[in-house]
Amino acid sequence: MSNQVKRIGVLTSGGDAPGMNAAVRAVVRTALNRGVECIGIRRGWSGLINSDFVPLHSSSVSHIINKGGTILFTARCPEFMDREGRAKAIATCRLLGLDGIVAIGGDGTFRGALELSRQVAESGQKLSVVGVPATIDNDIGCSNYTIGFDTASNTAIECIDKLRDTMQSHERCSVVEVMGRHAGFLALYVGISVGATAVLIPERELDFDRDVIEKIRQARLGGTTHFMIVVAEGVGSAVDIGKRIHDEIGLDPRVTVLGHIQRGGAPTARDRETASRMGYEAVRVLLEGKGNRIIGTQEGRIVDMDMEEALAMVKHLEMYRYEVLEALTASGK
Ligand code: F6P
Repeated sequence: MSNQVKRIGVLTSGGDAPGMNAAVRAVVRTALNRGVECIGIRRGWSGLINSDFVPLHSSSVSHIINKGGTILFTARCPEFMDREGRAKAIATCRLLGLDGIVAIGGDGTFRGALELSRQVAESGQKLSVVGVPATIDNDIGCSNYTIGFDTASNTAIECIDKLRDTMQSHERCSVVEVMGRHAGFLALYVGISVGATAVLIPERELDFDRDVIEKIRQARLGGTTHFMIVVAEGVGSAVDIGKRIHDEIGLDPRVTVLGHIQRGGAPTARDRETASRMGYEAVRVLLEGKGNRIIGTQEGRIVDMDMEEALAMVKHLEMYRYEVLEALTASGK
């Protein structure tokens, strides 16, 4: 089957994540190593619609394994959600003679990939699509881990450690908002790692008195005079949380929204290594003739799953981690 795959495309789509470049490099180098040409599609799915591409050679991906962002650029592409948009993309694939596409991104990227696969099947054209999970949110149901999560966690931890220094000196309360879209993975991992006073996540219904006020009170009774409240963006605005803390117990919190800084920076070892293995596996799967798959990690191993089944999978945040956080928070008891 592998001799039927002559040329593949690779793209990055949706919010960027540190390690995307390492994944692109792995795809290109693996393809070339197997005698397959590789075309970079720029700006995600919109690059397929607009025929925005660049041939990639081995040297095109030199010195990018250590770089955040994505050399292929990325975009969110509403046009790709329409049949007409996807029809243009399919026409580009035909024109370029692509036998397969590796799409590196998150949930929206994969939903687009699934719709593309369905439309390709209807058209009778042969084109296989394989997804590689890369998002700082770690919110892809079929994969324990998504590229970028570790780097983003470390970036947030570094920032919060710095905030803690000044909060400690001034004996203040800090409210920090972290990304994560609708999920609390980033907030909870970061909250445990910085020893937060409280962490607010969308997976747990908020009881302000129990989850915020009482945590601050217990920390104060335990002798602490500065407090760190980590808020997942999916819960709401950190500014509102700060105001409410002020109104209810009279503290004067400082609010920090970490924002897009969490998406940048050199990928960590975990992200480089995972991205390299996932990119390698994506090409291997394409060359095996298995189309429409999503790559993921299950118990540390790289696996591939049927795209439709993979997208129906749901990953729950283990609430045991919340218990760990609570057990380790300073309290007056
Ligand atoms: O999905 C990654 C992510 O950074 C989310 O955590 C966040 O909600 C969103 O993207 C921000 O998107 P944008 O870059 O469009 O502001």
